[in-house]
Amino acid sequence: MHHVFVTGAAGFIGSNLVDRLLADGASVTGWDNLSTGQERFLEGAAKQPKFRLIRGDNLDLPALTAAMKGADFVFHLAANADIRDGWKHPEKDLQQNTIATFNVLEAMRVNGVKRIAFSSTGSVYGEALVTPDKPTPETDAFPIQTSLYGASKVAGESMISAYAEGGQIDEAYVFRFVSILGERYTHGHVFDFYQQLVAHPEHLRVLGNGKQRKSYLYVQDCLDAMLHVTRTSTARDAKHHTQVYNLGTPEYVHVNDSIGFICRTLGVKPKLEYTGGDRGWVGDNPFIFLDTKKIQSTGWKPKLTIEQGVIRTLKWLEGNRWVYEARRAGEVKVKVKVKGKVKVKVKGKGKGKGRREREGEGESGREFGMGR
Ligand SMILES: NC(=O)c1ccc[n+]([C@@H]2O[C@H](COP(=O)([O-])OP(=O)(O)OC[C@H]3O[C@@H](n4cnc5c(N)ncnc54)[C@H](O)[C@@H]3O)[C@@H](O)[C@H]2O)c1
Repeated sequence: MHHVFVTGAAGFIGSNLVDRLLADGASVTGWDNLSTGQERFLEGAAKQPKFRLIRGDNLDLPALTAAMKGADFVFHLAANADIRDGWKHPEKDLQQNTIATFNVLEAMRVNGVKRIAFSSTGSVYGEALVTPDKPTPETDAFPIQTSLYGASKVAGESMISAYAEGGQIDEAYVFRFVSILGERYTHGHVFDFYQQLVAHPEHLRVLGNGKQRKSYLYVQDCLDAMLHVTRTSTARDAKHHTQVYNLGTPEYVHVNDSIGFICRTLGVKPKLEYTGGDRGWVGDNPFIFLDTKKIQSTGWKPKLTIEQGVIRTLKWLEGNRWVYEARRAGEVKVKVKVKGKVKVKVKGKGKGKGRREREGEGESGREFGMGR
């Protein structure tokens, strides 16, 4: 891995990955449309001669192809990672997660890049029917999809394996993450709950009944796993050249447990208000717990527990409150009338078709609840 191309380089996971790759001596080209990413996350990387950031959009195939020239490995992380609002713009997941993945693969084919790692998600399992109350293994049958996000990631994964099977790619790594925690975290339940508790420490609104069971993984543990597996080239000698790994901790917590970690760390005792029901929103999966035996069999294991990951995240948010403002600044709201109905369009600061655009979303859509 000498020259690595990272899509989504300015994002939460992508920017941490860039730092790790540079520390390991690789040359890195970061590609990002800055729709949800923050240039500030790349301040350290930008000082290094082996790094360049290109502002561009995965939906712009000619620019993507030109930018990728000379790379020998692609980490494809850019995506629309917002599961909850999938139905507010049904085409977005298809565009950002499926078509964009196809574009990345095409740019690789034209440039002769033969190795890819893809950030997929435990959401591809929808609600596991074969192992409903056990950790979900990679071999579980794909049940009914419960979100457009999950469906679009399944399509992305399928295309990657088709390119590998078709001889266009020598090594493909598909990583299905549980929710990731840690430094530069800008979306998810810790983000939402911290914001609420800063505004009103005596009250916390929780989507669902608080009994959802979820697993989480600390971002550096996630990167350790991806870098370890890609370096040992497990896909090169595999029959189908595509290796799928669940990435998570061998534990899960209830939402209420996580609330306990957060409140103890902040020293607050809010009154909890549950919106009710066994899930937070349409497409929320009340039980996300992945079987991680396969990745653990490679010698990797996570260093942090979920509780430690939540506390690290909280400490980082406490010291970096600017991210709340930065995320809001990326959402300039413009009211427009569409067919007699008032819609709110949220325009991202990124240019091009991939900018953030949400319709009909009130502030609370992002600010409250159990994002992930
Ligand atoms: N964070 C999690 O808990 C989690 C869990 C499972 C899977 N994932 C996956 O991991 C990846 C990274 O997630 P993240 O949490 O870092 O999200 P993020 O939103 O912080 O990062 C995504 C980055 O991609 C960029 N981007 C989005 N669309 C783009 C486009 N069309 N062209 C170029 N750049 C674009 C954004 O500006 C952002 O910098 C995503 O693929 C996500 O689906 C994340």
